[in-house]
Amino acid sequence: MKHLRIGFIGGGNMAEALIAGLVRAGHAPEALTVVDVDEARLAVLRDAWGVTTTSSHLKAVAGAQAVVLAVKPQQMDEALGAIAPGLDVDATVISIAAGVGIARLRRGLGRDVALVRVMPNTPCLVGAGMSVLYSEAKEEHRARAEYVLGSSGRTAWVDDEDLLHAVTAVSGSGPAYFFLLAELMQAAAKGLGLPEGLSRELVAQTALGAGRMLAETGKSAGELRQQVTSPGGTTQAALETMFEAGLPDTVRAAVAAAARRSRELA
Ligand SMILES: NC(=O)c1ccc[n+]([C@@H]2O[C@H](COP(=O)([O-])OP(=O)(O)OC[C@H]3O[C@@H](n4cnc5c(N)ncnc54)[C@H](OP(=O)(O)O)[C@@H]3O)[C@@H](O)[C@H]2O)c1
Repeated sequence: MKHLRIGFIGGGNMAEALIAGLVRAGHAPEALTVVDVDEARLAVLRDAWGVTTTSSHLKAVAGAQAVVLAVKPQQMDEALGAIAPGLDVDATVISIAAGVGIARLRRGLGRDVALVRVMPNTPCLVGAGMSVLYSEAKEEHRARAEYVLGSSGRTAWVDDEDLLHAVTAVSGSGPAYFFLLAELMQAAAKGLGLPEGLSRELVAQTALGAGRMLAETGKSAGELRQQVTSPGGTTQAALETMFEAGLPDTVRAAVAAAARRSRELA
């Protein structure tokens, strides 16, 4: 797949994260072509990653085996109209736009091509993303999409498009939940007299360590929590305070609100 010809429609943050992942994984940069409405942005991508850039949508998709739609949802219809006439018949069209369904993509293209819809998240920017994919297309197309997203993090599939609302509420918006907890912990650390720089380091490294334990030990979150909670100890004092303040209900309601909002926006 290292020479798969990929066209990126939109060269913003998420596109750059995917390009970075691909190039770092050994993908040939000259096989990547980016189109964006902003010339200055294209120059940045060209200089940083050695990709081919163009201001022509048709050039970006000409001969492309995979096309990544990386524009904002409100820019999607215009982008679809611009690429439709130039798409190869067997191209895989991969959309990472939040809330834009397969049906809208198909309508916007006005023709029958293989479509894959993806919900990535911002940790793709550091190669630790979580991307959830949905497609009704054949295995060859699914494999291409998995390759493109897999170079900037982990991938998983859902077999029901509707589940992408829940995915959005968990892994899509999820980094912000952890960032909020980090902000609150840092403020609390400062309140206890720790210097700001040290508070930041303690919280960031604790988050990284806890995340790696969750991802790598095979143990459940509950098990890991119990392991650090000795009866009558410091952790128990903190966790009891969180439970008494209603944290479980707050998190349940927050994730449900995000899923509801995702449905409304779609
Ligand atoms: N960031 C996230 O956390 C995240 C997570 C999951 C999914 N996503 C999805 O990823 C997509 C991209 O997000 P992003 O944060 O990378 O956005 P972004 O930085 O705004 O990137 C989009 C780029 O596409 C350009 N553009 C606009 N219309 C275009 C057109 N018709 N043809 C070509 N290029 C065009 C934009 O130019 P202008 O700036 O001049 O408009 C911008 O440079 C969004 O649909 C978003 O829903 C993002």
